[in-house]
Amino acid sequence: MRSNAKDRALRERAAQVIPGGMYGHQSTILMPEGFPQFFTQAEGTRISDADGNTYIDFMCAFGPNLLGYQHPEIMTAIQRQQTQIDTSTGPSPLIVDLAEAMVDMISHADWAMFCKNGSDATTMALMISRAHRDKRKVLVATNAYHGSLPWSTPRPGGVLAEDRAHLIYFDYNDPQALTDAVKQAGNDLAGIFATPFRHDTFTDQTLPDAEYAHTARRLADEHDALLVVDDVRAGFRMARDCSWETIGVRPDLSAWGKVLGNGQPISALLGNNRAREAASRIFVTGSYWFSAVPMAAALETVRIIRETDYLDHIQKIGALFRNGLVEQAKGFGFDLRHTGPETLPMVLFDDDPDFRLGYAFCAAALKRGVYLSPYHNMFINAAMTEADIAETLEATGAAFEEIKQNRDSIQPSQLLMAMAEQKRPTTMRQ
Ligand SMILES: Cc1ncc(COP(=O)(O)O)c(C=O)c1O
Repeated sequence: MRSNAKDRALRERAAQVIPGGMYGHQSTILMPEGFPQFFTQAEGTRISDADGNTYIDFMCAFGPNLLGYQHPEIMTAIQRQQTQIDTSTGPSPLIVDLAEAMVDMISHADWAMFCKNGSDATTMALMISRAHRDKRKVLVATNAYHGSLPWSTPRPGGVLAEDRAHLIYFDYNDPQALTDAVKQAGNDLAGIFATPFRHDTFTDQTLPDAEYAHTARRLADEHDALLVVDDVRAGFRMARDCSWETIGVRPDLSAWGKVLGNGQPISALLGNNRAREAASRIFVTGSYWFSAVPMAAALETVRIIRETDYLDHIQKIGALFRNGLVEQAKGFGFDLRHTGPETLPMVLFDDDPDFRLGYAFCAAALKRGVYLSPYHNMFINAAMTEADIAETLEATGAAFEEIKQNRDSIQPSQLLMAMAEQKRPTTMRQ
């Protein structure tokens, strides 16, 4: 029997000293009951919670774990750099090495700037778009996540209408909606933001329609505005290049984070020569933006991305997971929708409008050592083997059996019911 006594004790202490007990996407508030909040160990494909329970982790730290936790070569690079210099009065030469490596690798990029989180990079993209021709309007797809700053956070607390006064929303993958939004911007269009594919929470993922992506490029060109691809989530899981290279569209700016240091705190904004002048005019910085250890980790991560077959491997493992799960579900009388790229799988049940089956299934899989998400896309990492997927499917087989047995007594999540009643109070569009 799995114990969670330490996790419960930590939650009680956290409730006293951390607002809401935990915050942001790493709070388990939206997860099924029983999901651990605190972890003490991560290695390869696995995480262990504060009570010592170990799980095959399909969330990969919400993305950063691309090559396996504690990847030996990256750890060696980190340890080597730690003995030399990290945060100091100026950047180390690694910043130039890393900028060159990124420019070599990402087709649209002529320059790079480094920061810490995805939100830093997307906000720089916003500022550079506006600085480019001193225009204000920025187009973003409805419900797309670009970070947690006042212009982008999905919840309304502490946000003013003024913070979003110059954002215009359109429906992802709809060239006409995009064209209308550009019209609405008039001659004040600064930029168009796009995620590589639609990866909103609680919904099926949608790959980008080529016509939509080409329309975004054309409209940006016609209005001398900048096209931004936010590759923070999908970066290096769709291509060894910007994700929109897969459909032949090159942005002016691309935002990167998460996988860049395989878990070390580093993100980046890359741009082309068109955007260079504006990028050199904005003032952006942070006390830790120039630290060398995450750059050493990023250089090693990028080397492994360049030199190994990690991408084919995660595509193969992702397909095994996807096909195995969908087939298995059928055997138990459930239909699953598994959408988006196989390396960023989103798995939802058919006929499950209040997500009760998905929540019960993930809770049942967790008990058997597999950490899945019922509402957010998951992530495949390159340390996963066919044996991990076989072990996963053994656990999910038992989880399907459990929910099949209990199907009639499964209750929906109270929190989700409350959210549905208030028409998604957790998200704020504009
Ligand atoms: C597409 C996208 N953009 C931006 C961000 C923000 O990144 P961060 O949480 O590192 O600030 C995220 C984070 O999940 C993301 O998925």
